[in-house]
Amino acid sequence: MCGIIGYVGPRVARDVVVSGLRRMEYRGYDSAGVAVITDGALEVRKKAGKIGNLIAELDEAPLPDTEIGIGHTRWATHGGPTDANAHPHVSGNGRIALIHNGIIENFAALRLELETRGVALASQTDTEVAAQLLGVEVGAGADLADAMRTVCRRLEGAFTLVAIDATQPDRLVAARRNSPLVVGVGEGESFVASDVSAFIEFTRNAVELGQDQVVDVSRDGFTVTDFDGSPAVSHPFEVTWDLSAAEKAGYDWFMRKEIFEQPKAVADTLLGRYTTDGALKLDELHIPEAELRSIDKIIIVACGTAYYAGLVAKYAIEHWTRVACEVEIASEFRYRDPIITRSTLVVTISQSGETADTLMAIRHAREQHAKVIAICNTNGSTIPRESDAVLYTHAGPEIGVASTKGFLTQVAACYLLGLYLAQVRGTMFGDEIGRWMGELAATPPLIQQVLDGLDPIKQLAAQFIDKKSVLFLGRHVGYPVALEGALKLKEIAYLHAEGFPAGELKHGPIALVEHGTPIFVVVPPQGRDQLHDKVVSNIQEVRARGALTVVLAEEGDAEVEPYADVIFALPRVSTLLQPLVATIPLQFFACELATLKGYDVDQPRNLAKSVTVE
Ligand code: G6P
Repeated sequence: MCGIIGYVGPRVARDVVVSGLRRMEYRGYDSAGVAVITDGALEVRKKAGKIGNLIAELDEAPLPDTEIGIGHTRWATHGGPTDANAHPHVSGNGRIALIHNGIIENFAALRLELETRGVALASQTDTEVAAQLLGVEVGAGADLADAMRTVCRRLEGAFTLVAIDATQPDRLVAARRNSPLVVGVGEGESFVASDVSAFIEFTRNAVELGQDQVVDVSRDGFTVTDFDGSPAVSHPFEVTWDLSAAEKAGYDWFMRKEIFEQPKAVADTLLGRYTTDGALKLDELHIPEAELRSIDKIIIVACGTAYYAGLVAKYAIEHWTRVACEVEIASEFRYRDPIITRSTLVVTISQSGETADTLMAIRHAREQHAKVIAICNTNGSTIPRESDAVLYTHAGPEIGVASTKGFLTQVAACYLLGLYLAQVRGTMFGDEIGRWMGELAATPPLIQQVLDGLDPIKQLAAQFIDKKSVLFLGRHVGYPVALEGALKLKEIAYLHAEGFPAGELKHGPIALVEHGTPIFVVVPPQGRDQLHDKVVSNIQEVRARGALTVVLAEEGDAEVEPYADVIFALPRVSTLLQPLVATIPLQFFACELATLKGYDVDQPRNLAKSVTVE
């Protein structure tokens, strides 16, 4: 949510900043802006709307070549998406240009204080108060980094700030609390950004800043302090993917590319976890096994798509470990005063590792002495750092705002965690775990098989252009898949969609069904339990009322065929693993429909990929 970048070094700063903003546009696209320093003065260009508007502005009114620059792409919180509210914001004395990601919660009081002191504010943003306060401090003679620390001590809420001072064209200063910031270390050049994708083209050496730290950056290096000025520790890491992973590689949308990357993403997430001697190893989980054995409850906490991955995980974890597992939406978690003890294991799931609600849930859980394991895709992000342990998904960068490979790899990682807990707690025999691992390891080619057969889904999408509402049904792990299918349609095709447990249909939602109502149904594999037959009955119930049924069922499922208007065959897998194959046609359907409707699939309206405000 908001992307920020700063550069100091020999390249043309404006170009480095704009290319970084392009790569971070998924974080927000309400406005974009750049500031540079030339001849002791700031020059700023900023425009409401997507980055294309800023580039057009730069064509009309070019910025000079400079060795320092900052830039911002905005997801509006305080103040509408206008030119005036776009970042960077400049202090009244013209010294400071500042960009911000987050929300300054006490901005109203600070604004009043500034106005009382005669400072005129030019925007409605919370950000501008930080720019003005910094301007006052440096105007009174403070060093830029000292001024940043002074201002940060006064701010409440979440913020990453990056500032430049017109009188110091070789230095930028940044700070972070509750919002992301990484430093990129090149040879004779330095970067700061919300995430590494902004500078991956130039360096893979990155440094993750801690909570409440200020970094003073020049082309030759950086120093980190806390908000009081004491030296502070930061964490260097190497980015394991390269620029090509952050580009579209011939696809029209990042989302489509990411859908098609899922076989590899799942394979990479499973890679190296199962040893030849038949043991599941999660080396990065530095939690003593004795502690994992003493757990009496698991709470999974996440938002959005990651929450649905958690709902899938509940079925697997409870089945395999016999430990009670709750799944909670992060923004609700801490406000309901959840029952957490030292024996509670909290598992958070987050692709970005920056989702503010999830982060706050972690802090709350750790205050209650619970152990926290993060399932996360982003090295160097805040959530893993603030957790006791992390299990990384290896999806590579996910740039499409609607999560796809993020979801599948989260589900895969949850299976790994469930089987590992079963191994540690002795609730399953080794050979049983081995069988599940074997089945899991066999899923990437099956995911590929689904991807190779998506043509019927493409044709189906063309029939949905004028539909006003779509329902999704599922039971057991098919229920979260239904929720995820509905979410994808809402997110990118702006189509009203609801997911329901198929059994709950009769308790209300069936009243929505009329002639032609489209209903997607995820059918469990035919098996020993009655799940399959019950869902087939549910399909008949809606069909009898005129629904148009689109059925995802195991290949060769002859029982369901007579009740399906459209049927999509899924490869054979165990019920518990079915989300790994059943979700894909739904992701693709949403992508296809949104494309046909002419929407921007990668940057859907009002959304941002990384939601760093509560
Ligand atoms: C936003 C994104 C969703 C994502 C959710 C959680 O709402 O638009 O796609 O599922 O955040 O994100 P996380 O990074 O924590 O998985």
